[in-house]
Amino acid sequence: MHQPAIPHLAAADPDIAQLVEGEAARQFEKVRLIASENYVSTAVLEATGSVLTNKYSEGYAGKRYYEGQQFIDQVETLAIERAKAVFGVDHANVQPYSGSPANLAVYLALAAPGDTVMGMALPAGGHLTHGWSVSATGKWFRAVQYGVRKDTGRVDMDEVRDLARAERPKLIFCGGTAIPRTIDFPAFAEIAAEVGAVLVADIAHIAGLVAGGAHPSPVGHAQIISTTTHKTLRGPRGAMLMSDAEHAKALDKAVFPGLQGGPHNHTTAGIAVALAEAARPEFREYAAGVVANAKALAEALTARGFDLVSGGTDNHLILMDVTGKGTAGKPLAKALDRAGIELNYNTVPFDPRKPFDPSGLRLGTGAITTRGLGTEQMPQIAEWIDRTATAANDGDETAIATIAAEVKELLSAYPMPGWA
Ligand SMILES: Cc1ncc(COP(=O)(O)O)c(C=O)c1O
Repeated sequence: MHQPAIPHLAAADPDIAQLVEGEAARQFEKVRLIASENYVSTAVLEATGSVLTNKYSEGYAGKRYYEGQQFIDQVETLAIERAKAVFGVDHANVQPYSGSPANLAVYLALAAPGDTVMGMALPAGGHLTHGWSVSATGKWFRAVQYGVRKDTGRVDMDEVRDLARAERPKLIFCGGTAIPRTIDFPAFAEIAAEVGAVLVADIAHIAGLVAGGAHPSPVGHAQIISTTTHKTLRGPRGAMLMSDAEHAKALDKAVFPGLQGGPHNHTTAGIAVALAEAARPEFREYAAGVVANAKALAEALTARGFDLVSGGTDNHLILMDVTGKGTAGKPLAKALDRAGIELNYNTVPFDPRKPFDPSGLRLGTGAITTRGLGTEQMPQIAEWIDRTATAANDGDETAIATIAAEVKELLSAYPMPGWA
């Protein structure tokens, strides 16, 4: 049953209540390996489901365009102060609705349409909003893109330097959405300084690892840090922009009134709660556990013949090419979903296949670590993935159903926040 219970919703709208319960049960029964997802705590759920959603508060604490901010100002100020303490930054803005608008606010603050900007190409592991052609950021700016080396699967800092010297971008984005390796913030900072660019570290995926000391911090290297709050940081759907003192005003103006209206105060409260959780010693253990699980899973998958981009992982994320298993990303992701293992199909660098039917799978250990699974369970998960690949190739749905039952049985021993 969903926790907190939803009796009023069940009475007022049984259709939606039933769907919420269905989703909660699904999350309880599946090995959730989507690298951008997690389970928030019940405290975060309560904050995001609170009356704070009723309130409008355009502006910033002490300078609002609506009355009645006695409590909202305090909520937002707490979230800001906690973000500053957790990440060690001069400035934090907790209002961006999500990661994409947060990144758009960076462009609005520091660049003009047509300016040259630089980021990692989407097929190499970058995010759409780092200048990819179909995104507004690729349409409205002159985006140049770097990738990874074919032989190592890692960012080629020589390519980044050469491209930056040749193109002299205003902004350089580092970070991305399918990068299994540590981001070398000092090296990016050196290149940005040389060409006079502002370095933006998009730590959406690794924010929880940075907060928990399991990935180097971009603070002191990147002038601007963008992050979502809902991946390894384990907060509600939302985002934050952080910066040095110099860029604080421009970022705030870009978020409001530049791009957004009223902040989502219930989300801000949830972010504040998640940040308080991230400041606790247990969160350092969690972050270390996420990385340990990813490394153990990577090892077990490699031992079973899966081909991992870059040969492994330093963080929460694994990217692998499943061509060698006689299949492709999409059919295997769908078979795994039927087997109770949820992940996403993904392009791999230099993928000869199309983005909607690519060669790879992306996996992450943020959610299963929250659930309490440890390194001792990772070989079992790798075995299920391997067995599902064989079963799917053979069209053996009975074998897939057997795996789903085994998954459900294992997970029944691991409590899930949001479920009682
Ligand atoms: C690196 C990175 N930046 C930004 C975003 C965008 O976040 P959102 O989906 O909240 O707009 C994502 C989302 O996956 C991401 O991985």
